[in-house]
Amino acid sequence: MNIDGLLSERANYMKASDIRELLKWVTADVISFGGGLPDLSQLPLGEYSDVAKYVISNYGLKALQYGKTEGVDELKDELVKFMSRYGIRADSTQILPTVGSQEAIELVARVFIDPGDVIITEKPTYLAALQAFRVYRARIIGVDMDNDGLMIDKLEDTVKRLKSEGARVKFLYTIPVCQNPTGITMSLDRRKALLELASRYDLMVIEDNPYSYFTFEPVDTTPLKALDREGRVVYMSTFSKIIAPGIRLGWVVADQEVVNWLAIAKQAIDLHTPTLSQYIAYELLRRGIVDKYISVIRETYKVKRDAMLDALSRYMPRGVSWTRPSGGMFIWVTVPSGIRTEDMLALAIRKYKVAYVPGKSFYPDEDVHNNMRLNFTYPTIDQIYDGVRRLANAISEYLNQ
Ligand SMILES: Cc1ncc(COP(=O)(O)O)c(C=O)c1O
Repeated sequence: MNIDGLLSERANYMKASDIRELLKWVTADVISFGGGLPDLSQLPLGEYSDVAKYVISNYGLKALQYGKTEGVDELKDELVKFMSRYGIRADSTQILPTVGSQEAIELVARVFIDPGDVIITEKPTYLAALQAFRVYRARIIGVDMDNDGLMIDKLEDTVKRLKSEGARVKFLYTIPVCQNPTGITMSLDRRKALLELASRYDLMVIEDNPYSYFTFEPVDTTPLKALDREGRVVYMSTFSKIIAPGIRLGWVVADQEVVNWLAIAKQAIDLHTPTLSQYIAYELLRRGIVDKYISVIRETYKVKRDAMLDALSRYMPRGVSWTRPSGGMFIWVTVPSGIRTEDMLALAIRKYKVAYVPGKSFYPDEDVHNNMRLNFTYPTIDQIYDGVRRLANAISEYLNQ
């Protein structure tokens, strides 16, 4: 059957992620810095399986029955405690468990975006958020960052300009700590200035925070939500990196009215977040297993980040620069402007057997071609050194062509 004539207009705005397309090419002999995969080699599998067994035998049918869209109360109460340790005060009615934070992004997009509405993001930003916003036909405007994160003066210029044009600016989407893709953390002063500006221009702020739990050196990671006195921040986070991505569990913290709307939207998508995952996460949190695992990955990922930074400084040719993330999973590399990293990828994969994500797809509204995102958490230390050396050779060959 030919479905071309049946596809919705919306389907035209759905685009397969470049990362997924790229992963298809990656064979066993390719070192991949491409995906955003955590290293699962240190997972406390024994404790996880004890917990899974305990949940089935103890919570039994409750953990396997349909549940409320609003989520499992035990988990939400535990999340209230977990969030309070990061300075976020919320009660359980302000928390909504979601199927990963990706679903939280989708819910926000579904509830708030009309075609033509303006969304402001960092430039570059998380590409799957861009994908979600585009399906709802948002006009996405990027604002520059420097090493201290989003540039607040540029943000203000952008907001002023948009408002004077009569644009409907719906929200600012930001990843303040260990940003994806750059690894950059916004300074505390900028975070405060951002909230002041949001208050002055009456902006809603979507704060996406998967990575702040495992930073590798002392850095202020106070969430915007912890500084938010006006209820304008919608905070989202995830267990994907601190339990495992396969549990598909994230959560939103927001004012109750926002949570209610997101829950209504969620009903039509999946009724509720898997009850089994919620009970397992509850037990893992309650028993302190999540905290223990966070300390493990903090150590492991620090060693890997340091290895990648070292390999980059050893092998990269002149003219290549990169960020120094204080946590998270990614380093953002800038190559000389003559290189289009999306064009170089075929050479890198086929000849040098190394993969990365070209930077282009992370830009909301601009064509920038000379960046790439490297993941340092999934490869082994040997692969990091070997892969960066191969990548440096690919860049040198490409530059000399
Ligand atoms: C910034 C950001 N937001 C959201 C997600 C989605 O994560 P998940 O749906 O697994 O919680 C990711 C995943 O890598 C991410 O980097």
